[in-house]
Amino acid sequence: MLASYFVHISSVVVILLCTFDLASCQLIPGMYCGEENCYNVLDVDSSASKGEISKAYRKLARIYHPDYLRGRGGSEKEIEEGVLKFHQVATAYETLRNTQTRDEYDYYLQHPEEYYYNYYRYYKRKMPNVDVRVVLFGTVTVISVFQYISWMTSYNTAIQYMVQNSKYRNAAKEEAKSRGLWVEKRKQKKFKTKEDLKQEEDDLIRSIIEEKMDIRGGYQKPEYSDVLWMQIILLPYYIYKFFKFHISWLYNYTIMKKEFTEEDKIYLVCKNLGIKPVAWDMQSDKNKYECMNRELWITSNAKVYIHEKQEEAKAKMANDPRMKRYRRWMNKGGPGRLTFDDD
Ligand SMILES: *[C@@H]1O[C@H](CO)[C@@H](O)[C@H](O)[C@H]1NC(C)=O
Repeated sequence: MLASYFVHISSVVVILLCTFDLASCQLIPGMYCGEENCYNVLDVDSSASKGEISKAYRKLARIYHPDYLRGRGGSEKEIEEGVLKFHQVATAYETLRNTQTRDEYDYYLQHPEEYYYNYYRYYKRKMPNVDVRVVLFGTVTVISVFQYISWMTSYNTAIQYMVQNSKYRNAAKEEAKSRGLWVEKRKQKKFKTKEDLKQEEDDLIRSIIEEKMDIRGGYQKPEYSDVLWMQIILLPYYIYKFFKFHISWLYNYTIMKKEFTEEDKIYLVCKNLGIKPVAWDMQSDKNKYECMNRELWITSNAKVYIHEKQEEAKAKMANDPRMKRYRRWMNKGGPGRLTFDDD
């Protein structure tokens, strides 16, 4: 049990590594024949019949089985290597001789990107005596850890990009200055090295960018409560919140005919315009004011508004010189006509 748990954990680590660098590891060590293709291990075609597979296995087993090696007077080293090779051959045979595992393995080869699914199927079969709940527990844990790490990676990449980008960097610098956090270089203490100063500057800029990003919502720092495990645990709470919201909505607005609160108006505007609350927060004050002024929480008003915006966009395209040139070119026959003009 402990051993299988270890295998489980080591594969989790490998899956995580592979996710970030898929090209370098299509096949996952620790699953089936590891990084080798089981068909190659047995030296058979992927369409080989059951008989051919058994024959290939018997042939290789006779070469690598420790007993045979010993019988032929192989050295300790040869026997040691033979054991490993024999183990690999046996694993390949185990995988391919059974139609069901072979189908699963073929699927794994064709869809290496579906690692959760492949992983789940492999371990379920590998540990048939293990309670399916344990397998599910492990799989959900893998997904949760994976989610958190991959969100963290993309968050860090985004922040890193902004720290390096002069536009965001300058904005952050201005912010630091306005808060009195920025110390001019010449006023810095002398004993600090250049690298220290650069590091301090980067840290300050980074912290300001992170804070601003959090406010704008687009690049929120990953939250533990968003990972699958927490979502499952919090499910009853979400269900409760869902019903509470809809029932009180029904009560307040449909039955009691109350006036919409400001918050609920925004909720409806977002719904009518098909945007997320985050996107609403990022709208300019002018846009927000226009939406509220035109009472877009009323569906018919929102429809008129959306139509107007679409017409506006169309008119803008019609007057765009680039689009005009494109249309002229299309009228002349578009990409279907060979021309030799320098148009
Ligand atoms: C309904 O009204 C109550 C009390 O005025 C308020 O607390 C609740 O948030 C409202 N529900 C909705 C969905 O706006």
